[in-house]
Amino acid sequence: MADGLSGDLVDHVALVTGGGKGIGRATALRMVRAGASVGVVDKDGDAAEAVAREITRLGGKALAVACDVARGQDVEQAVKCVVSSFGRLDVLHSNAGIQRYGTIVETTEELWDEVMSVNLKSAFLMARACIPHMVSSGGGAVVFTASVQAFATQRGVAAYAASKGGLVALTRALAIDHAQEGIRVNAVCPGSVDTPMLQEAARLLARRGVGDSPAEPEARQLIEGFGRMHPLGRVALPEEVAEVVLFLVSSRASFITGVTVPIDGGLLATLGVALPQ
Ligand SMILES: NC(=O)c1ccc[n+]([C@@H]2O[C@H](COP(=O)([O-])OP(=O)(O)OC[C@H]3O[C@@H](n4cnc5c(N)ncnc54)[C@H](O)[C@@H]3O)[C@@H](O)[C@H]2O)c1
Repeated sequence: MADGLSGDLVDHVALVTGGGKGIGRATALRMVRAGASVGVVDKDGDAAEAVAREITRLGGKALAVACDVARGQDVEQAVKCVVSSFGRLDVLHSNAGIQRYGTIVETTEELWDEVMSVNLKSAFLMARACIPHMVSSGGGAVVFTASVQAFATQRGVAAYAASKGGLVALTRALAIDHAQEGIRVNAVCPGSVDTPMLQEAARLLARRGVGDSPAEPEARQLIEGFGRMHPLGRVALPEEVAEVVLFLVSSRASFITGVTVPIDGGLLATLGVALPQ
């Protein structure tokens, strides 16, 4: 914890959704190392508890909160818990999300609503609950986890892509509405990141190839294949996303608001059309 004492977020309180796994877990740990106290909010209460214990073992301060970010009452309660435990709120990383598949024709109304609620409505609910506390703290910073899928997309992820596009538009709207209150709002747009979400997507694809066996080696090969589609030749680590989130919420990014930052190994820069050799 030595670097925590002189980090970017000393005396700051942060709330990270989806903090139990993947990108959210990495961000929660990174923010603690930068000096913050962190509310680790996740639908999976056990995963949130495990991350909070990890943080406590490192000498940091964390509170695990079980919360479904798609539900207004849960969100209000979670924000209240974090503020009453730590006394203030400066940073929100609204990150929890789910991946579901299908073209629009294959997408049921229930699936559309589920994806929109967890990926987009949650950002509205969390920002609405957190911003008044940030105003009381004299300002704050919000980061949403969108995706490259907001800008360029693959087949069969219509609802997911629409939810991430919505987050990018919401980022700009909130940035403009709350700039005068000293609140900056930005989004990160990861390419493929090696998290339980990506691992599950690879397992799903691998099972299609080999039936119902666990297909772990095939899934790992598929992840390596996703990596080769990125110009840098690999998928990202969650810690590489966390580093950018930390920068965006820190005073080092004090004049940055309303932007979306790709963290995609060059994926959005590529046309995907090979020249003849
Ligand atoms: N992994 C990738 O390749 C990738 C790429 C681009 C964007 N993203 C986005 O990054 C974010 C985090 O993804 P990840 O890969 O770390 O996912 P993950 O599945 O590994 O972890 C997500 C966490 O969010 C929690 N969660 C899910 N639904 C929730 C809900 N309703 N309420 C509260 N918590 C909930 C899960 O329990 C889990 O702990 C998501 O918004 C995802 O869309 C991921």
